[in-house]
Amino acid sequence: MSTAAASLEIFPHIDATQQEQITPEQAQFFRENGLLIIRNVLRGEELKRLQDETLPLIDRAAKEDANDPYKADFHYGTHEQTGKRVPTRIEYVIDKTPACKALLGHPFILRSVEVLQGRNFVPTWDSMVFKFPGMGKSVPWHRDAGTDFCGEQPIFNVDFYLDGSDMTNCLWGVPGSNLWSEEKTREALVRLSKGGFQTEGATPIPMNPGDVIFHNILALHGSPPAQSKLRRVIYYEFRAAEIESTIGPHVPEYMPLKQKVLLKCLQHRADAPYTKGEKAYTYNPDAKFAAPAFDAKTESLSTYRYPHNEYWRKHKKNDAFEA
Ligand code: NI
Repeated sequence: MSTAAASLEIFPHIDATQQEQITPEQAQFFRENGLLIIRNVLRGEELKRLQDETLPLIDRAAKEDANDPYKADFHYGTHEQTGKRVPTRIEYVIDKTPACKALLGHPFILRSVEVLQGRNFVPTWDSMVFKFPGMGKSVPWHRDAGTDFCGEQPIFNVDFYLDGSDMTNCLWGVPGSNLWSEEKTREALVRLSKGGFQTEGATPIPMNPGDVIFHNILALHGSPPAQSKLRRVIYYEFRAAEIESTIGPHVPEYMPLKQKVLLKCLQHRADAPYTKGEKAYTYNPDAKFAAPAFDAKTESLSTYRYPHNEYWRKHKKNDAFEA
């Protein structure tokens, strides 16, 4: 058995064509390991539209036009093997494409988020990370954030793979590291990063297009530099309102804005030509966290882009946030 196949044996087999949401046992596996793989979440026309609509964004990022209005949302790094500057990440993809709007309303995903966080969740981050063709910068081992903002419900990213990944360019993770102390994490980061991207004790997670990983923001993860084909992953992060409303990291005004984005995106999904016959998710938080009055059928939003740095709570340092 290959290393990749062996590593995947530790995960429960979850196929989005065979169930409507994750089960309590699968949720428990995620709580204990901080990583979960769900196969076949994106299929057919939805996957194709996401691929077609995100490709031009990467071309735009690569051009680095100083007058591009999206410029502030493009991130770059240096590819280790060639020394070339390459685009690595694009922020606020929901604002930029119709398919990413409809994606936020994905019922399997939202029902599963509810299993893990309860029904008072809010969408927080929406980004696309990618390995640029032939020049995929590494993502050094990291946690997405410190433990300052965490609480009872797990905070996690939903990673939607638009392209496949293999042993040359896949994500690596350390199951269970979401429960480690800061000190144990620091020691592991030193060991795993010594002299490059080390993988001892870590698990490779190769994916097919349309598959999804849930990754707890405290689970150690990263990927080595690659010279592979394009590998795109859309990251949607969710947080429980109980945590977001008390410790942030965003100010309280942020939450109702993002609840409206979610309601509108559920409507976009209902209107999308490729969701016929789908059992829609109904967002119904407790009264304490009720969404603002908003008729998603008739009202439109002037933006879906709420820059994090305009909504940080002032007393916290937030420079560690980078999913
Ligand atoms: Ni990350």
